[in-house]
Amino acid sequence: MTADELKQQAAKAALEYVKGGIIGVGTGSTVNHFIDYLATVKGKIDGAVSSSDASTERLKSHGIQVSDLNATGELEVYIDGADESDHYLNLIKGGGGALTREKIIAGASKKFVCIADESKLVDVLGNFPLPVEVIPMARSHVARQLVKLGGTPVWRENFFTDNGNVILDVHNLEIMQPMETEQKINAIAGVVTTGIFALRGADVLILGSEEGPKTILPK
Ligand code: 5RP
Repeated sequence: MTADELKQQAAKAALEYVKGGIIGVGTGSTVNHFIDYLATVKGKIDGAVSSSDASTERLKSHGIQVSDLNATGELEVYIDGADESDHYLNLIKGGGGALTREKIIAGASKKFVCIADESKLVDVLGNFPLPVEVIPMARSHVARQLVKLGGTPVWRENFFTDNGNVILDVHNLEIMQPMETEQKINAIAGVVTTGIFALRGADVLILGSEEGPKTILPK
């Protein structure tokens, strides 16, 4: 099976967690499959809160109502992909640049169901360059601080987030203590969000695999 077929398999399996009400929806190619499956059961839900302009557009194209998080209160479930997950369901996210809104919705949801193909499960986070969303005027300052933490930041040129900020992709970080690293990076002035999701990791990970979808709970 191709990686995309495995993503599709995980996305379909996540429908089991859609019970009704308003659900949180992430961003990326795996989530795009999920949105397409969600459209087949849209009568069951009242709508969605979206983590990006791209997901909003796709949800609306299926006739799914998109709500403002300020109007919904806490959400029952948030479904999103990841760039990496460790066995404790600490994640790296933000490959698509939507990390800040994703982190907000994850934090506002009772259950975070992460969907991915099985190549995303790793022992230690950090092989995937860590995205960090930064206020544009702080880009060089934040980059210098990230070097002090042992990373090699690379500016994602010609890319702006939906919030009008820039992304530094940090290479060569071996993230042995995800919560600590998340807090340290978040504390740098000018950082909006780091793509480490450890303080609020996933509750369930569904991996598409050759043997069918696998459900992983935190170790
Ligand atoms: C976007 C994300 C995505 O969830 C992550 O990049 C995974 O994407 P894909 O499903 O395309 O592999 O964090 O900001």
